[in-house]
Amino acid sequence: MRRRSFLAGNWKMFKELDEAKEFVLEFLPLVSQVRERQMALAVPFTSLSLVAELAKDSQLIVGAQNCHWDNEGAFTGEISCSMIKTCGASMVLIGHSERRQYFGDTDQIVSRKLAIALYYGLLPIVCLGENLAERESGLAFEVLSRQIKTSLEGLTAADAPKIVLAYEPVWAIGTGRTATDQQAQEAHSYLRARLTDMVGSEAAVQVRILYGGSVKPDNVASLMSQPDIDGVLVGGASLSPQSFAKIVNYLPI
Ligand code: PGA
Repeated sequence: MRRRSFLAGNWKMFKELDEAKEFVLEFLPLVSQVRERQMALAVPFTSLSLVAELAKDSQLIVGAQNCHWDNEGAFTGEISCSMIKTCGASMVLIGHSERRQYFGDTDQIVSRKLAIALYYGLLPIVCLGENLAERESGLAFEVLSRQIKTSLEGLTAADAPKIVLAYEPVWAIGTGRTATDQQAQEAHSYLRARLTDMVGSEAAVQVRILYGGSVKPDNVASLMSQPDIDGVLVGGASLSPQSFAKIVNYLPI
């Protein structure tokens, strides 16, 4: 099954308003020819409205990097999916490893955030991946199995194609140490098999699985040549309009 490629950037806690604006104005003309592929940017909450407004007549999908699991309430400092939506955004990252590591996002929390994102019609990108110790002790697949089972708990076959998964081995994030194409493909095909167990093969083949972790303009094409790698989630290399545009415009090999 042919899945539409999805090239996504994650700015993390970078870019103030003027920098965000400058990026978008420079980036959009560089990707104006993009049709088949989907491209997206997850930006800080503070830039959400501005970037969504600047991108509204373009193909760029704009999203947040986190959300709360409830739609409103006494949760000081939190942002709900409905708020994200009213900023003009249509996507949200859920369970990024930095959220899991520093802000206590567990698989259970991820599943609640996923449910509310789907309820509000946002495109959720659910992130998971093992850390270095887990990989080195041969536990990577066990960890992935546990993460996908709990993080996607309750996901129906009808909803499965509305989500995007991102495999991001923690040891490859921001380290310059990319998983090899084979390591990434192996993990992606394992995740697709677990998805098949959960929602059936008809739904599982439609789910796009992104690879994330030190993706750069020079390694994107070989990663994308793997059969189960449907896109990438890019941190550092999405901060410059030129490098993110090169990633979006990569030449297939
Ligand atoms: P990186 O980050 O591309 O800087 O390794 C990836 C991510 O955290 O999504």
